[in-house]
Amino acid sequence: MDKKVLYTIIIVIILIIAGVAAYYAFTPPAKEEKVLVVGTASGFPPFEYVDPNTHQVVGFDIDLITMIAHKIGYDKVEIKDMEFDSLIPALQAGTIDVAIAGMTITPAREKVVDFSKPYWHADQAVVVRKDSNLVVNSPEDLHGLKIGVQTGTTGESYVTEKVGKDNATIKSYPSYVEAVQALVNGQIDVIVVDTPVAQNFVHKYDVKIIHTFETGETYGIAVKKGNTKLLNEINSALDEIMNSPEWNQLVNKYFGSSS
Ligand code: ARG
Repeated sequence: MDKKVLYTIIIVIILIIAGVAAYYAFTPPAKEEKVLVVGTASGFPPFEYVDPNTHQVVGFDIDLITMIAHKIGYDKVEIKDMEFDSLIPALQAGTIDVAIAGMTITPAREKVVDFSKPYWHADQAVVVRKDSNLVVNSPEDLHGLKIGVQTGTTGESYVTEKVGKDNATIKSYPSYVEAVQALVNGQIDVIVVDTPVAQNFVHKYDVKIIHTFETGETYGIAVKKGNTKLLNEINSALDEIMNSPEWNQLVNKYFGSSS
């Protein structure tokens, strides 16, 4: 083959390759969506629960974190539903950016994660079947009973500390919905659960609240320890939302009235 023709072919091939490379190098990539990865633990209505129709995790916490995310420049949230006691490890491992799960701000948790300002408050309610005639006024009144709680919660630690494993049968469930179902089915005598969730259960199941242990808990949104940037953004968005009419709308949507 004529050398000139050969060189021309080679040059043309090089130009094509260079052109393609330049195209990919200089075309700006499509703008990536900013996603906030949110961990929660469903089975804690009305804060987070699975919608029976859509099978999606919905609730007060999900709406709240979605509002916050939009305010601080995220396009959307990705919800990761996990067991409650996996949330803090997931934050530490960086598989989620925030955890919102009706999570009580406790000194022990504050050692391992950072919390936003409080957005809700709760005590621990003693819930029994509607037809039960149990009377409970103190932790001692729970002696000898089968008590249901959720693994890794403040309800579980309250019962473990104040009643004690030697004085009662403490059964820990993966979620409070499973605990209340076990109560309704007669497998346990009482559950000890956060007051706002207990009130929700009273509307949905044949159960009643017979006592409240005043634990004075508050809920916060958790981020990985040291993620101050995200925490500050969350706090200012939370402030803004809690001081706007959006807050009452949100509260009304899930609690029927402001509290
Ligand atoms: N407030 C309690 C705690 O922090 C119970 C939270 C349970 N939350 C849940 N999404 N299951 O321990």
